[in-house]
Amino acid sequence: HRPLHGKHLLITAGPTHEAIDPVRYLANRSSGKQGFAIAAAAAAAGARVTLVSGPVNLPTPPGVDRIDVESAEEMARAVKEALPADCAVMVAAVADWRPRDYQQEKIKKRGSAPPALMLTENPDILAMVAANSKRPDLLIGFAAETENVVENARKKRKSKGVDWIVANDVSGDVMGGDRNKVHVIRERKADDWEDLTKDQVAARLVQEIAEQLEKVHG
Ligand code: C5P
Repeated sequence: HRPLHGKHLLITAGPTHEAIDPVRYLANRSSGKQGFAIAAAAAAAGARVTLVSGPVNLPTPPGVDRIDVESAEEMARAVKEALPADCAVMVAAVADWRPRDYQQEKIKKRGSAPPALMLTENPDILAMVAANSKRPDLLIGFAAETENVVENARKKRKSKGVDWIVANDVSGDVMGGDRNKVHVIRERKADDWEDLTKDQVAARLVQEIAEQLEKVHG
């Protein structure tokens, strides 16, 4: 049974690394596990899958086209090039900021004061895809929250112009762990899923994606 046969799914996963100088970077605790699990489940369901991945330590799932990137700007470029897609699932924990001034040489310890790190905002890849003329028919964002999870996710769904938001509470050890407790927020309904493995979340989400694409495409 290949419910996603003939469909192209674009998935982002992992953290991004934002270079400070040739040897240092800013990053976050994303492992990439949830995004890779979704890519694997989508490929197993017969989809053509493009997985744009930040720096992670994970094997490429069978049947998945993987594009490795480091920074948010590289990820934005790779995502644009991968469109069109029938569905995009943006799971990556993209860094909100990057160092404003990349230093070509390793920053030296200078006797007294540590250097100040000035930051600048990264492109919002999800919002960019939402506004793109090639916007996928089904656009799904993730929202990692540590408080007011569902309420913040509802707001995010609207403000980002996406169809579904999968919200997870990352106040525990979700980042890097194998389990996930998510809330799936749609225009008319919000479902609280029980505590599941990331593979189970992926399988269920892929099934719901297939059903939704079936509705849209017939
Ligand atoms: O606003 P927030 O970062 O919580 O939104 C999370 C969602 O937006 C995730 O789907 C994430 O992949 C996406 N995102 C993005 N580019 C950014 C920031 C977030 O694609 N610069």
